[in-house]
Amino acid sequence: MSADKKVQSEDDLRLKLDINNVFEGVIGKEHGMTLDEIEEAKDKALKAHKSILEAEAEGKMGFMELPYKQEEVIKELKATAEELKDKFDNFVVLGIGGSALGNTAVQTAINDPHYNLFEEARNGYPRLFVSDNVDPEGIKALLDKLDPKKTLFNVISKSGSTAETMSQFLLARKFVADAVGEENVGEHFIATTSKDSGYLIEIAEREDMKKFFIPDNVGGRFSVLTPVGLLSAAMTGVDIEKLLDGAAYMDKICRRDDFWKNPALVNGLVQYLAYKKGKVMSVMMPYSDRLRDLADWYRQLWAESLGKEVDRQGNRINVGPTPIKALGATDQHSQAQLYMEGPFDKIITFLEVENFAEELEIPGAYEDLDGLGYLGGHSFAELINTEKWATELALNKRNRMNQTVKVPEVNEFTLGQLFYFFEFQTAVTGELLDINAFNQPGVELGKNYTYGIFGRDGYQDKKEEFKNSAAKNDDLIL
Ligand code: PA5
Repeated sequence: MSADKKVQSEDDLRLKLDINNVFEGVIGKEHGMTLDEIEEAKDKALKAHKSILEAEAEGKMGFMELPYKQEEVIKELKATAEELKDKFDNFVVLGIGGSALGNTAVQTAINDPHYNLFEEARNGYPRLFVSDNVDPEGIKALLDKLDPKKTLFNVISKSGSTAETMSQFLLARKFVADAVGEENVGEHFIATTSKDSGYLIEIAEREDMKKFFIPDNVGGRFSVLTPVGLLSAAMTGVDIEKLLDGAAYMDKICRRDDFWKNPALVNGLVQYLAYKKGKVMSVMMPYSDRLRDLADWYRQLWAESLGKEVDRQGNRINVGPTPIKALGATDQHSQAQLYMEGPFDKIITFLEVENFAEELEIPGAYEDLDGLGYLGGHSFAELINTEKWATELALNKRNRMNQTVKVPEVNEFTLGQLFYFFEFQTAVTGELLDINAFNQPGVELGKNYTYGIFGRDGYQDKKEEFKNSAAKNDDLIL
């Protein structure tokens, strides 16, 4: 943040949801909603809200406890970061899905965009790498450049057995052991996992690694505000208490049972009604580089939570809006044509930053050239928001459903609000779809086939299935 920015109150930093452009008054009768439609469905949303609060009272909504119940964990995270940040040059997260995406979203939202590249961008904190794939070239390229003696790994896996994460751990462990000796391996690893299940906790105890825990009632994609996302944040100088303050502030808003005073409830319902109206794709388009990876985090949250085969009664329903991430203004030159003129199957959520930390003036020049001279004297902050308003207007003209989440500025407090807002909204839409938004049987099935094909004990049947299905028709391989 620029030093001259005045300190703002929490209320000044509140996110706002603008849903004007989902209504038929703006985008026409055929594709818009009516207020009556929302009013009619309001009771259903309030019922969903009540169920969420009841489930929370039964301890089933762990993500709602995170803003409040972590004093001890926060102390430990901060002490760990303080102790280790000077000992290591590199902090590497090994994780995937919900165990990785929040780390990147926090890092790119809060820290300098060139954090890893320049020492002065890091203020003495270690570089951060989030290694969330098993592409051999990517892993090798990273390890080849790291000094194992100066590298700390955080292995994040709630189940403690995900093949992608654990195979990376095995490699990283050897990389470190070869350099510092078997007896010192534990000092280079932190395990973030379930307290009492899975192999990672067993290994951490065996090798005397530092441990952080993921609460049982918090699923991977809802875990960014647990040590999963908070340790890398603390290790890179992010104010993790402010992140949680932002989440707590939004939690109070999300608890309101006055429908029109609860934007997460309204948005959960709007998304549901949009889906029912055939807007089966949900685009998130931040006009901010800092929020680009938040859209990536959201894409997983939305897809894994809402893409479900069966409803709560076990009836086959195969539901789920497909989340798409886009970046403004960049993707105006890539995706916007489709959004404006392709099928009427999308609702677009813009994230608009009201105050950028830098305005950055566009210098005036070539005033004699009409098509260029007008740019000078404006700022890039004005330009990026003008681009957003222009895209919004063009979408309205083409009868395309869209809405905006306004972010007063991007900082820890507003980021904490954003995480919580979208998590709560996801829970609401899940209730409305009558599905379990907190399981992921499809992901588990894929994991189990990997275990089977790779020869893990207990998964032989999966290997057999693979072998049988692998009988391919060569004529169809062209
Ligand atoms: O959100 C989820 O539950 C998943 O995306 C998991 O985070 C992902 O599959 C990784 O699982 P684990 O943390 O058990 O290694």
